[in-house]
Amino acid sequence: MLSSRMLRGAVVRQITPRLTYGSAAQPQVKQKKTKFGPLSDQDRIFTNLYGRHDWRLKGALKRGDWYKTKEIILKGSDWILNEVKISGLRGRGGAGFPTGMKWSFMNKPNDGRPKYLVVNADEGEPGTCKDREIMRHDPHKLIEGCLIAGRAMGARAAYIYIRGEFYNESSNVQVAINEAYRAQLIGEDACGSGYDFDVFVMRGAGAYICGEETALIESLEGKQGKPRLKPPFPADIGVFGCPTTVSNVETVAVAPEICRRGGVWFSGLWQGEKLWD
Ligand SMILES: Cc1cc2nc3c(=O)[nH]c(=O)nc-3n(C[C@H](O)[C@H](O)[C@H](O)COP(=O)(O)O)c2cc1C
Repeated sequence: MLSSRMLRGAVVRQITPRLTYGSAAQPQVKQKKTKFGPLSDQDRIFTNLYGRHDWRLKGALKRGDWYKTKEIILKGSDWILNEVKISGLRGRGGAGFPTGMKWSFMNKPNDGRPKYLVVNADEGEPGTCKDREIMRHDPHKLIEGCLIAGRAMGARAAYIYIRGEFYNESSNVQVAINEAYRAQLIGEDACGSGYDFDVFVMRGAGAYICGEETALIESLEGKQGKPRLKPPFPADIGVFGCPTTVSNVETVAVAPEICRRGGVWFSGLWQGEKLWD
């Protein structure tokens, strides 16, 4: 009796937390699978957005992060770029530029300069709160995404530029980076793939304009965050004078799942576009 009531309470609470809390007389509500348009539960990519589970490495592994990352890295740059192109993923930073094409601009003959991935975690647009949730509740998705996106563009390292006000977020991201280094998922011979890749966090000072990619690059270099003229584009001359691609947190964080489940799966969800309010 007690256990069935407890069970019933748990199910009810999960569905409508405030209305039914503490009410023993509620009718039993069976948890239903949810489906929103073409999106169903098993299509969810971020499964800890509400922070109900462990955001650290142990929890991330349970949710499927870092699964077969080595195999993905070993498939190489062209394979990853192709999957991202097929997925139809468009940049989640605002402009919606096709991500696969943008990352492939880095695929030029090596001229000796290192290449860098810069992750735009400035999220300064009033009312936006999406990258923040990824960083505080699912930071390993972002770190793994850095490695995979970095491999796609032949980058040596990723700099995650986080807006100054996001203290807890940058702290969680740094903890996740430390865990990933300790587990040899990043760093020298990342995931045992033979690929060397570092990830650094850089905190901004909370200026909206630093979300613009060239101002962000200036700020990353320690200068005032003022936009640069284009051309040259960052893929030619970016951070520290080296080829660079700036990508949004969410854009980078979905890359591992696209590679694991395939670009075709992702393209069937929303044709690469996304609407949020
Ligand atoms: C004034 C201004 C502010 C911007 N702020 C952000 C921001 O906070 N986060 C972001 O990801 N992109 C921002 N962008 C867009 C970036 O310049 C860049 O296009 C984006 O980070 C590229 O990532 P994506 O290809 O993944 O979308 C801003 C652009 C402008 C012009």
